[in-house]
Amino acid sequence: MPKKVKIHIDKVSKVYQTEDGRELSVLRELSLDILEDEFVCIIGPSGCGKTTLLSIIAGLQPATSGRILVDGDIVSGPGRDRGVVFQEDAIFLWRKVIHNVEYGLQLRKVPKTERRKIVQEYLKLVGLEDFANFFPKELSGGMKKKVALATVYANDPTILLMDEPFGSLDYPTKCRLQLELLKLWKTKTKTTVFITHDVEEAIFLSDRIVVLQNGKVETVYENLLPRPRADELRVQTEFNKIKGDLRGYLE
Ligand SMILES: Nc1ncnc2c1ncn2[C@@H]1O[C@H](COP(=O)(O)OP(=O)(O)OP(=O)(O)O)[C@@H](O)[C@H]1O
Ligand SMILES: [Mg+2]
Repeated sequence: MPKKVKIHIDKVSKVYQTEDGRELSVLRELSLDILEDEFVCIIGPSGCGKTTLLSIIAGLQPATSGRILVDGDIVSGPGRDRGVVFQEDAIFLWRKVIHNVEYGLQLRKVPKTERRKIVQEYLKLVGLEDFANFFPKELSGGMKKKVALATVYANDPTILLMDEPFGSLDYPTKCRLQLELLKLWKTKTKTTVFITHDVEEAIFLSDRIVVLQNGKVETVYENLLPRPRADELRVQTEFNKIKGDLRGYLE
């Protein structure tokens, strides 16, 4: 049975008014369907509108024209169905790991015993069960990303929106987190929209790669590399062939 459309992006345009009174047209009637449980990576040059698109899907800012439907409903603001992981660590520095991860559950008034059970489950999934009582300043950059991941996952959204979450990490840490993310995605599948300008990262993670250019979809690449994916994949011929193909679009 064909998968259902989870996110329907329908001719979305975004024009920013700049401080000096000019209009900056960033997205131009961009249309795209993202399927349920799909892992889509969006790549494109700096400034092409990736973050803008993600924040409109998240409901953090409106489109100038066009609309986005999630499960058939028009997006008019943020919602619990969409969890966002930003490029910067959006975690509370003054709260211990455990209190960061349970924050959303607390807001929703989930009783403490249930809350703790959920938090333990997600800390275990990201391998941070022994760090529950640490403060963020006591963690490495990679561990902070894992806290951010566990925090959004604990809220159980159906869609995960990620804006270059691993952009600031060194290569080995980034590779490890990509594997962790795929493991999470396999255990608790969510429709995932992942922004990156790292082509290799996009190939390693995705089912489809959407290349943005000049505020539009330049091309959509079906990534048929088999799953589960392991580090060895990164040096295989097929992997590098896709890399070559995509580079052509990005130049
Ligand atoms: N709030 C804003 N007001 C005015 N212009 C903005 C605003 N936010 C973004 N822009 C402009 O919109 C364009 C696209 O920005 P956006 O952040 O979406 O790009 P991006 O593809 O995410 O880039 P990067 O890869 O560098 O993160 C840029 O030219 C930027 O200057
Ligand atoms: Mg961006």
